[in-house]
Amino acid sequence: MIQKTPAEIVLIKKASEITRDALVLAKTLVKPGVSTFDIDKALEKFIIESGGSPACLGYEGYPAATCISVNDVVVHGIPSRDKILQEGDIVSIDIVVRYKGYHGDATRTYPVGEISQEKEKLMRVTKECFFKGIENVRIGDRIGKISHAIQTHAEKNGFSVVRELCGHGIGRKMHEAPSVMNFGKETDGVAIAENAVLAIEPMINAGKKEIWLLDDGWGVVTRDGKPSAHYENTVLFTKTGVEVLTLEKDDEYRSR
Ligand code: MF3
Ligand code: CO
Repeated sequence: MIQKTPAEIVLIKKASEITRDALVLAKTLVKPGVSTFDIDKALEKFIIESGGSPACLGYEGYPAATCISVNDVVVHGIPSRDKILQEGDIVSIDIVVRYKGYHGDATRTYPVGEISQEKEKLMRVTKECFFKGIENVRIGDRIGKISHAIQTHAEKNGFSVVRELCGHGIGRKMHEAPSVMNFGKETDGVAIAENAVLAIEPMINAGKKEIWLLDDGWGVVTRDGKPSAHYENTVLFTKTGVEVLTLEKDDEYRSR
């Protein structure tokens, strides 16, 4: 697990702030009638104007600045002119910003207008999974403590955890060791090092855990067609605690 230097942490924090601000903008763009292409283009422009670059663009050939995943799309939805948001949808927007060679990574799932109670609960529980995951976790604890807490909370609420995708270390590279599973035992994985930076990202399905890959080679969908939600932050572990680097300034969890 890579331990970041103070100078690296400054750059990761800046990348994370741009990521967070892009998500705050994204929330205002999510409306019925808007295409995921238009949202992606607006976010790309914002990221560049903020001094960052959209790290997903060109990553292993990925064709857009952001990933925008609607309803049963779990992750890596490719923005499209043909994908028009409709009242009742939920839409996950996943943004990775590079700033002076360092990365911030975060995702939010937003409602489009009025949504069903099931989707409302799914979004709430997915966010809670993230915060349960980091609750009481300190350097020296194993990664599995995060994984186990996420799985326990999701399943307690009748939802399922996607197995094939996970969180990750982040820094100079978008994906660094270690993997941060969203399921498993508290004793799994390595101990969290001081000044480690991790992207923690529960991906939770309303129905069954199984997924398919779409023909575009990127989009991941639930096999049962039920909705999926995603909530992700870039997190710094220090001697004194846990800092969520991509959290909105007015988030309800900030003051807990
Ligand atoms: N944000 C995603 C992650 O956490 C990465 C998107 S894949 C890409 O791994 F190809 F779009 F970059
Ligand atoms: Co990530």
